[in-house]
Amino acid sequence: MKLKLPRPPSPGEVFDKVRESEAWRSIFRPGSVFRKGYKDTQRDRALAAMNNVLYHLHPVKLKRHGLKLTYTFCLGGLSFFLFILLTVTGIYLMFFYRPAAELAAGQAYQDIETIRNSVVFGDMVRNIHRWGAHLMVITVFLHMGRVFYTGAYKPPREFNWVVGVILLLVTLLLAFSGYLLPWDQLSFWAFTVGTSFGQYSPPGIGPEVQFILLGGAEVGGETLLRWYVLHVLALPFVITIFLAVHFWRIRKDGGISGPL
Ligand code: HEM
Repeated sequence: MKLKLPRPPSPGEVFDKVRESEAWRSIFRPGSVFRKGYKDTQRDRALAAMNNVLYHLHPVKLKRHGLKLTYTFCLGGLSFFLFILLTVTGIYLMFFYRPAAELAAGQAYQDIETIRNSVVFGDMVRNIHRWGAHLMVITVFLHMGRVFYTGAYKPPREFNWVVGVILLLVTLLLAFSGYLLPWDQLSFWAFTVGTSFGQYSPPGIGPEVQFILLGGAEVGGETLLRWYVLHVLALPFVITIFLAVHFWRIRKDGGISGPL
């Protein structure tokens, strides 16, 4: 007598079984294109956008004018892209840089030399970081110009304009603080001049303000350390919070403003 073996399941059937499992359904939320039963309907497309961690940042529906490239020139988007690029390249540089001024006669300067000459892709990553920073200052300024030119600062977007002004200030502070880190002649004198503006604070507190900015009476190891912490931690933290508010407000204010 011939033994009848059960037919092995096809790859499609195995995949269906996996998609029905509790583990799979716990990862892919309702509406996900990876869930069983996804249909290419308006409703499922909307759910797919709403329930995905990355897609949900975008609106489910757009006004047609919001897609016109020559209205925004994507300058805000470019500024954000550069911010991400600067974060990624900055983290790489942090593996090889120590903000130490006194140790071995300017460790910070020597670390930059090492990054430029010995670290794998070091010089390239450093230059992407440097050029990216210059570009971000330019794109943020141009973005602000575009918002002004198109009148996008008017109600209900006036609050987002104010958030934007803070973003501009933090962007400039990030650029300024990064300038000190190479610890070369340019950095030293730029900070000597830059922090001397502290003296022009309201009468009586000028020297104190300058002292806080420098961490001492003149540019030194303490100055480098405090501006380093500002550059890699405090300011990125602040800009991330304000960026989240900025993007949230764009959505709540009804998306991109319309053409005049
Ligand atoms: C780190 C800096 C900034 C980033 C990453 C950023 C990002 C963005 C993005 C992605 C948009 C969507 C439209 C577009 O791409 O143009 C936008 C819109 C907007 N931004 Fe910014 N922004 C920044 C700085 C600023 C500044 C400096 C201002 C003004 C002072 C500003 C005011 C606005 C306003 C009012 C809108 C709404 C525009 C509209 O509805 O047409 N932003 N921003």
